[in-house]
Amino acid sequence: MIEREKIEEIKRQTDIVSLISEYVPLKKVGKNYRALCPFHSEKFPSFYVNPEKGIYYCFGCKKGGNAINFLMEYEKMDFPDAVRKLAKNLGIEIDTTKGLKYKELYEVNEFACQFYSLCLSKDIGRRGQNYLTSREIILNKLKDFRLGYAPASGGLVTFMRQKGVSIERLNRAGLISMNHEIFRDRLVFPIFNLSGRIIGFGGRGIDDYMQPKYLNSPETPIFKKGSALYGLYQTKESMRTKNKALLVEGYFDLLSLYQKGFTNICAPLGTSLTEQQAILISRYTKRVNILFDGDMSGIKAALRAIGLFINAQVDVYVSSLPEELDPDTFIHQVGVDELNKVIESAPDFFHFYKDAVKVDTVEQEVALIKDLIQIISNIQDPIRFDRYLKHISHVFGINEDTIKREMEGKKPLREQKPIRKLKVTQEERLMAMILNAKDHFPLAKEILSPDDFNQEDIKRLYKTKLKNECFDIDDLSTAADESLREKMYSIIMKEEPVSKEAFLDALFRYKSTIEERRILAKIGQLSKNGDVKSMGEYRKKLDILKEQLALKRKMLNITINEEAVRSNEE
Ligand code: GTP
Ligand code: MN
Repeated sequence: MIEREKIEEIKRQTDIVSLISEYVPLKKVGKNYRALCPFHSEKFPSFYVNPEKGIYYCFGCKKGGNAINFLMEYEKMDFPDAVRKLAKNLGIEIDTTKGLKYKELYEVNEFACQFYSLCLSKDIGRRGQNYLTSREIILNKLKDFRLGYAPASGGLVTFMRQKGVSIERLNRAGLISMNHEIFRDRLVFPIFNLSGRIIGFGGRGIDDYMQPKYLNSPETPIFKKGSALYGLYQTKESMRTKNKALLVEGYFDLLSLYQKGFTNICAPLGTSLTEQQAILISRYTKRVNILFDGDMSGIKAALRAIGLFINAQVDVYVSSLPEELDPDTFIHQVGVDELNKVIESAPDFFHFYKDAVKVDTVEQEVALIKDLIQIISNIQDPIRFDRYLKHISHVFGINEDTIKREMEGKKPLREQKPIRKLKVTQEERLMAMILNAKDHFPLAKEILSPDDFNQEDIKRLYKTKLKNECFDIDDLSTAADESLREKMYSIIMKEEPVSKEAFLDALFRYKSTIEERRILAKIGQLSKNGDVKSMGEYRKKLDILKEQLALKRKMLNITINEEAVRSNEE
């Protein structure tokens, strides 16, 4: 048996587009990718892959699911083998006899986070508090980041003993080494995975002369520096709504900008950006603005990152800060408005690249042109591709055909056939919305019962979801018949998850219609029987019901608004 947490992590980390690309050439259409279906023969592509949700579906043969299902279907593997293969690709250890279980590692990290943040809030954390103040960090605005302080005198081991966590477990979680607590007299930054669990920590020495200045937890089965991004858990929603991500180099850059309203931001963990990280960001937005330090190493890092983002089909802009200033110092010394200007006026990668690379000789120029051609040859969107092709052609005075010849194997575009429109009922649309609005499910639970659905299949699906909240789109094959499954996939592949308010709205609109319909039917029946007295009672019932619903909605709205206020506070 492979642990459920581990399977979830593997599904989350796997990039379904790269996986399926190894078997089938995919082409980007909107936010999905499309191909000729590998599971049945067809002339026009009806096989779709959605990177953000990690699912695929063929509207021709109706096969669909997650990365694991794909391998099972394509490679004819059984479930554990498919999981093992994905785990191997990700470098995840699957043999649970070695090391701690994922769940235990998450738990130890959670306790450690509680310890460090407790210390920061107490007298013992005075040095941490003062340091934060000196760097103009306002903890109030950064609650979601759960910052902490590791005292010079330690204390983690004692705290953990009270929680029943052994030295051995602390060791495996990477919090102590040779009986020595790793973080001491450091500010501690918990690092979260995409579902909000703590997978490791970063720590900054309080004194500038402390070596090393920054220290991360060692890699553990749940912590791989190249596949996590600092801040992403807290900021991915904002990236999605602003349809743009800011990428900075350091923890403090991120926090300083976030507290001033730049909430669509993330940072690698002290190493240069990896392919996996670029792909991860591309799930939330296809537009990134790199804001690296204005020094040589910052420029070099930006040049490396550009290629990775282009490969992930992300449009890249690069903001150049004055040398000697990183985003953190810039925002404090120069200001928010100025930073906004720098971001808004950022050149696209092409112009940045051209200006950043110094060219003195013809040979250097040839090398630069070839680099640029290499980069743009990976752009799949024909319009973007064309735009950059023209740039190169224009700027360097080279014939477009010459450039095209330099890139081998650009295939002509295929004719496109849209997904057939399916007729969908109101209940089906709502159900798809419920499956798509993962984090808001508790609201649905609060408002709807299975009997609020008239369609038997939807009723059954909703009951399944109530019983098992982890139930997800890619589990549909067990709980819905083919036609319902097709409808769910077609809606979910196309639609963005809705905001909490919009979700609540849809739920109440539906609930009111259902309840009203019920009572009106009853009244209709009573009027047929001439039972005027009961009819009056039911009319009253209808009024009361409307009032109750309005009240309940108000209450839930208040809770939501409070949450929003709390998270935006000051
Ligand atoms: P501050 O001095 O606190 O403002 O940090 P900074 O972010 O300006 O530092 P710098 O530009 O030197 O480093 C950027 C990022 O690289 C940091 O946020 C760390 O993640 C990482 N980093 C810097 N120094 C070290 C180090 O000595 N060891 C490790 N592992 N990472 C480091
Ligand atoms: Mn700095």
